[in-house]
Amino acid sequence: MPTSASVQTRTVRFQTYGEPAEVLRLDETTLPGPADQRVRVKVQACGLNPADWALCRGLFAGSLPRGIGLEASGIVDAVGKDVTDVEIGQLVFGPVDFVNTSSAGASDYAILQHWTPVPEGLDAAHAAALPMAVAIAYGSLDCLGVEPGKTVLINGAGTTVGFAAVQISLMRGARVIATAGPTFADRLHAFGAVVTAYGEGLPERLSALLDKSPDLVLDVAPVSGALPALVQIAGDPKRVMTISDFAAAKTLGVRSNLEEPGMRIRYDVLREIADLAAEGRFSIPIARTFALDEWKTALSVSETQQARGKLILLP
Ligand SMILES: NC(=O)c1ccc[n+]([C@@H]2O[C@H](COP(=O)([O-])OP(=O)(O)OC[C@H]3O[C@@H](n4cnc5c(N)ncnc54)[C@H](OP(=O)(O)O)[C@@H]3O)[C@@H](O)[C@H]2O)c1
Repeated sequence: MPTSASVQTRTVRFQTYGEPAEVLRLDETTLPGPADQRVRVKVQACGLNPADWALCRGLFAGSLPRGIGLEASGIVDAVGKDVTDVEIGQLVFGPVDFVNTSSAGASDYAILQHWTPVPEGLDAAHAAALPMAVAIAYGSLDCLGVEPGKTVLINGAGTTVGFAAVQISLMRGARVIATAGPTFADRLHAFGAVVTAYGEGLPERLSALLDKSPDLVLDVAPVSGALPALVQIAGDPKRVMTISDFAAAKTLGVRSNLEEPGMRIRYDVLREIADLAAEGRFSIPIARTFALDEWKTALSVSETQQARGKLILLP
């Protein structure tokens, strides 16, 4: 039965575009009941991502005010018309509707655009860490053509998207070479990847490790100037895809995930991946958790580009 009463919520949002530390505020607002095909949740955990700060700077610009926090888990407290697959009181997780509301996941209450039950064995924070990393990694690997028998180099496997991409590529039967810093190198190696450091000297390190060029390269590192070396390693820019350095991609002829005609953000796989995570067979590491009013600390950690796992708000 659809429910539609409004609720009062605290929310981290911006009223004008600009640098996140300058434009973001913790506000009080009223959140209406969910529209058709949406559910509203009492937020238990919300993942923060570099994309949140990009929204503040004008990515996907639209009506203001607008919230941050694009992925969340929470207890369903209201459902929109025609929603029949979830119960009030159920713990679910998924991507947040940040476009059609004036607040998003960094709030006490939020509207989800897709939802998946959190399986037993997975906690609310680790569920909230999944949607962005998994759905972007999965869709990008689809477009790149990662399949059994291919060798794929994942540059930036210590990012949350990269950590997901390594596990998904291995699940597909690909051979994986990963670049990462020391934080996750051992875990990536234990998954079955060959791991080396990112940065200067990468082509030389890889040619010592590999007997031939990788078939495919996925660059998921924060913008780092690595693309020319990745093209050199692959031998052809069309075998390289980036999800971050779009300016260099244009110059070099490298593919960009968001410009791929077949790119789908694969929220449809979240149920399967959550089940694996509940069984301990998939993970996105959490770096730190924060109370909602500590969002500024989370921002400053994220902006170092050394978060070392997902940053999670616990409203
Ligand atoms: N286009 C899209 O669809 C899309 C979607 C989501 C994210 N993105 C972009 O993808 C990138 C990754 O996102 P995320 O949320 O997964 O990031 P993240 O987890 O916040 O990335 C932080 C991690 O990057 C690693 N890192 C830092 N400098 C690096 C370098 N020079 N080379 C390789 N790794 C480096 C560090 O890990 P270690 O040093 O410990 O290895 C650090 O912990 C971001 O640039 C983000 O904006 C794009």
